[in-house]
Amino acid sequence: MAHQTVLVLDFGSQLTQLIARRVRECGVYCEILPCNAAPPRSGAGRPEALVGLVLSGGPSSVYEADAPPFDRGWLALGVPVLGICYGMQLLAHAQGGEVRPAGAREFGPAEVRVGDSALFHGLGAETHVWMSHGDQVARMPEGFVAIGHTDTCPVAAFESRSRQQFGLQFHPEVTHTRDGVTILRNFVKGICGARGDWTMAGFVEEQVAKIRAQVGDGEVICALSGGVDSSVAAAILHRAIGPRLHCIFVDNGLLRRGEREAVAAEFRDFDLTVVDASERFLSALHGVSDPERKRKIIGETFIRIFEAEARRFDGARWLAQGTLYPDVIESVSFRGPSATIKSHHNVGGLPPDMALSLIEPLRELFKDEVRLLGRELGLSESRIQRQPFPGPGLAVRCLGDLSAERLRVLREADAIVQAELEPLDLGLWQGFAVLLPVRSVGVMGDARTYEEACAIRAVHSADGMTAHVADIPMAVLTRIANRIINEVRGINRVVYDVSTKPPSTIEWE
Ligand code: XMP
Repeated sequence: MAHQTVLVLDFGSQLTQLIARRVRECGVYCEILPCNAAPPRSGAGRPEALVGLVLSGGPSSVYEADAPPFDRGWLALGVPVLGICYGMQLLAHAQGGEVRPAGAREFGPAEVRVGDSALFHGLGAETHVWMSHGDQVARMPEGFVAIGHTDTCPVAAFESRSRQQFGLQFHPEVTHTRDGVTILRNFVKGICGARGDWTMAGFVEEQVAKIRAQVGDGEVICALSGGVDSSVAAAILHRAIGPRLHCIFVDNGLLRRGEREAVAAEFRDFDLTVVDASERFLSALHGVSDPERKRKIIGETFIRIFEAEARRFDGARWLAQGTLYPDVIESVSFRGPSATIKSHHNVGGLPPDMALSLIEPLRELFKDEVRLLGRELGLSESRIQRQPFPGPGLAVRCLGDLSAERLRVLREADAIVQAELEPLDLGLWQGFAVLLPVRSVGVMGDARTYEEACAIRAVHSADGMTAHVADIPMAVLTRIANRIINEVRGINRVVYDVSTKPPSTIEWE
C-alpha cells in the first residue's frame, strides 16, 4: 500500500462501494475488504500507509448468533475508526455497549442535532440525514459520548476521543445526507490526517511505471470496442508502451453510424487494426430473430475473429482488459463458499489456450475515476461521456429477423435520435432507437404506406441495474418522430417507451 489508505470493511451494505467512492473523492485511496478479513499483523506496527478504518452498514443485527464475523484486532491497530449504521452498532457491541431494536424502525430522512466533534466540523447545529436502521445503540461503551441525536434516536452519533472511534447511525455516503461529504472529509482528512495523495495525474505516473515493469519489452494486444473502459485502458497502455500495444477493433456491422470512423480517428496514433467483419456477422445472423441466439452467434463470431487477429501478433504475451474495481471486489463471503469474487470477462470466454496473461490497468478504479483518467490521458470528451453500448450492438435493438436492410433503417433512425438528444444535455444514461417488427398503415402525401415502427428509449440510471424513463419534452419527441418518418425510408410510426426497469429492461432484447 503505497498511498495513504482508508480501508472499508464490508458488512453487506448495498452502500459499501459508495463509501469507498466518497473517500476517494476526497483524494484518499480507499479499498474494500470483506468483513471477515484479518487485520494486518500488529507487532511490527501497523502498516504505515493505513490511516483509517470504516466499518460499513449491513443487514444483520450484532446480537444475532450468525452475525458477520469481525476480528477485534482491527480496533487495536491504533488508526481512527468510523462505524456507519451496523458498523456503529458493532463498535458499541464489541466494546461493552448495548444494541437493541429501535422502538420504531427508521427508514428515510431525519434531522440530527449535532454536538461538538471533529467529525462535524463546519456543520450547523442541525443537519438533514438519511437513516435506515432497525437497531440502535441503547447504551454506549465506557468512554463514549453522544455527539448527535434525533427525536427517536438518542445516540444517532457517538465518539471516543481517546480511542479515536466514531459512530454514525445515519449514512453519510448517500447524497440525501446533506453534509455527508463534509462529515466523511472531516474523518479522512481531519481525524485520520490523510494528505490526499490519490490523484489521477499520480495514478497515470504510477501505472505507466507499473505497466512498463510488468510488460518489460513484451507486446500487448487489446480488444478496443470504443467504449469508455477499453478506450481508457488502451490509452494508458499506449502511454506506457507506445507501438508495442496492438489494438484490434472489430466492425461487426452492428455499430452505430460513424462509430468505426470515430474510433479510427481518435486512435490514429495507435497501432490499430480495424477488422471489417460485418459480412461475416451479418451472414451468421441473417434471418435470426431469437434474442439469445443472436447474442450467442455474436459472442462466438467475435471470439473467433479476435483469436485469428491475435495470432498475427505472435510474440504478444499480454491481453489488456478494461476490468473495473466493482468487478473485482470480493463481496462479503462469511455466509459460505457460494459468494466468490465476481469474475468479469470483457472479451468474454476467450479460451485459456491463447496463452495470454491478463493486464488490467483499471482494476483499482470506479467508473467515474475511469472518466477522470480518460480526461487526464487526453481522450475526447465525447469518448469519455459515451453512453454504454451493448456488445451485441444494434442486433439487440433490431427486433425480429436481422438483415442488412433493417439494420440500415435502424442505424439511420438512431442517428437522428442521437443528433436530437445530444445537444440537450439531458444527463441520460442511454437514449436510442429500437426497430420493431410491426407494420402499420400510414399516409404520406397521397400514398398509403405500410411500414415498420420505431421505438425511442431514453432512460436515467446510476448503474444500469435500475432505470427510470427520461421526461423528454413532447416537442422534442415529436421533432424526432417527424424527422425519422420523413427521412428514414422504412419507418412510418414512432412510439416512446415509457417502461421503467424493473420490470422492463433497458434494451429490448
Ligand atoms: P438491460 O437491457 O439488461 O441493460 O436493462 C442494462 C445495461 O447493460 C447494457 N447491456 C449490455 N452491455 N453487453 C454489454 O456490454 C451486453 O450484452 C449487454 N446487454 C445489455 C445495456 O445497454 C444497459 O446499459
